Amino acid sequence: MVFSGKRILLIISGGIAAYKSLDLVRRLRERGAAVRPVMTSGAQEFVTPLAVGALAADHVFTDLFSRQDEQDVGHIRLARDCDLVLVAPATADLMAKMANGLADDLASTVLLATDKPVLIAPAMNPHMWSHAATKRNVETLRADGIRFVGPMAGEMAESREAGVGRMAEPLDIVAAAEVILDTTAKPLAGRKAIVTSGPTHEPIDPVRYIANRSSGRQGHAIAAALARLGADVTLVSGPVTIADPAGVRTIHVERAEEMRDAVLTALPADIAVMVAAVADWRVASASDQKIKKHPGESIPTLALTENPDILKTIGHHTMRPKLVVGFAAETQDVDSNAKAKLERKGADMIVANDVSPSTGIMGGARNRVKIVSRSGVEQWPDMAKDDVAAKLAELIAERLRQG
Ligand code: C5P
Repeated sequence: MVFSGKRILLIISGGIAAYKSLDLVRRLRERGAAVRPVMTSGAQEFVTPLAVGALAADHVFTDLFSRQDEQDVGHIRLARDCDLVLVAPATADLMAKMANGLADDLASTVLLATDKPVLIAPAMNPHMWSHAATKRNVETLRADGIRFVGPMAGEMAESREAGVGRMAEPLDIVAAAEVILDTTAKPLAGRKAIVTSGPTHEPIDPVRYIANRSSGRQGHAIAAALARLGADVTLVSGPVTIADPAGVRTIHVERAEEMRDAVLTALPADIAVMVAAVADWRVASASDQKIKKHPGESIPTLALTENPDILKTIGHHTMRPKLVVGFAAETQDVDSNAKAKLERKGADMIVANDVSPSTGIMGGARNRVKIVSRSGVEQWPDMAKDDVAAKLAELIAERLRQG
């Protein structure tokens, strides 16, 4: 499943092991990956672009200065529109270029331009592999975060020489790629998240309460999206009619004070996303008996008192999560209110939306939000709440990665 829908940019450089890359393309594709090949001019001396393209069922990119290719895709997009850049075989020459940041052909340019994980499968003569220059380059590449698979010990294809330098077998390359894709697909693995969602119910008496129109849809979707990225999620939900999300620990509460207690109990965490529409006020002294209506008697007045602000408590806590995200449901001055909220609540990010009744956001399936942080305001288009959740989870992962 790991490869399903994944895009692999396969760079083939010029070595005899390139014949194994044909099999590698097949192995990757039969697992569901899309393979887009780039071949160096050296590679084309060993296998033809026709064979590689036929197996990959994609265009083979070979030329940095091809006007057609640049128009259709462009080398920067080639470098970025993938989940993994795989170099197999990686020659000593290409590794030397990579280690020194050279970019004089399509393969080396793509390798310099990419922001995606890079896995290389070196293949060369044992003397070339053990040469001090290659050793230096390997060390540099490892320090740059390039991942290696192989080379293996054994007999060389082109000579009787034996030693370390054979390219790893296609299935071993596939396994190494799988490990990388698995961890990049789950960028929040090992992270703990707390999410609040839904409204709170503040009792007036045993049968009556103060509530609001929050459905919990956005908060629940965010909890699920964080879990899909590998986070260990505790969802603290007020009373809602929607199901608990899969893969998430859900704690059900009614009142704001219960919600705060559950959130504090779930600490420590790396991420807090406070989505719940927590009632600002509760009845100062809720009656433990049903308040009766007596004809002729005066109408009762409800004295309110302030509820704890859970987001603010978390934002200023000694165990404050690394990333604290709040929501701002406003009906006016969305931007300026959100900016003020960022400071007041000690949050890193505020997801602001206009919940005026005409927007249909409260309780609806769609949302149109602005992301307000200290680095500015970003307007996201109108999206399904599930898509807002997925995009927000990716953004959270990105912010944590940046530290
Ligand atoms: O101040 P306001 O209610 O507009 O702030 C909204 C944000 O604060 C939301 O993230 C909400 O979950 C959180 N909040 C809270 N506890 C409260 C009130 C709001 O956590 N008592």
